[in-house]
Amino acid sequence: MQNENRRLRIALTKGRLENKTVDLLDKIGYDCTAVRDKGRKLILPVGDTLEAVLAKANDVITYVEHGVCDIGVVGKDTIMEMNGKFFELVDLGFGKCRFALAGPKGRDFYSGHNVKTIATKYPNVARSYFEKQGMDVEIVKIEGSVELAPLLDLSDAIVDIVETGTTLKENGLEVYEDIAPISARLIVNTVSMKLRKAEIEELIAQIEKNL
Ligand code: PRP
Repeated sequence: MQNENRRLRIALTKGRLENKTVDLLDKIGYDCTAVRDKGRKLILPVGDTLEAVLAKANDVITYVEHGVCDIGVVGKDTIMEMNGKFFELVDLGFGKCRFALAGPKGRDFYSGHNVKTIATKYPNVARSYFEKQGMDVEIVKIEGSVELAPLLDLSDAIVDIVETGTTLKENGLEVYEDIAPISARLIVNTVSMKLRKAEIEELIAQIEKNL
């Protein structure tokens, strides 16, 4: 899988994290014209030495774990959920939000003796949070707009990402507990870190200088 002659490959989480990373690479001095004008292309040159691969967050981790991409930019939320084998080297500081436990406003989540049902897109994060609390819960996996679950009485609460809090507020929900802060992270394949150490360290140094 490793080929030291190819450009250093960086997998970017499509969307907001992609745009922020491209802005950062631009600032460092890489020519990002091809990524900015990508159309429907998924692999684009960045400057003379980098190649950007555009992927969904979970796939960024998969590509970096398998070494087909050397580096990745992905949210801490996905890292916490997927628990992969790679180095997490830089907190990029953008894409800031948090994991929270939330539910209908004004309700005491902890009252009563029934096992609570939690809806989430992040079952591993939710499971590990409640395990640490020593609380037995039932977890239901939802694919999107998790806020619907308590509104439809499918769950007592949700574990989800909160950024501005607008989605919760507009749906009569509130944060019960903060679980963990989230931001974009730079991850590196473990073998690439050995084989392409100098290039990767140089890129990281440039990134850290420009954060
Ligand atoms: C995320 C998250 C919340 C919302 C929080 O959803 O799951 O629904 O953003 O943002 P806010 O606090 O600023 O309102 P996303 O937009 O990714 O959509 P999805 O739930 O359909 O995946």
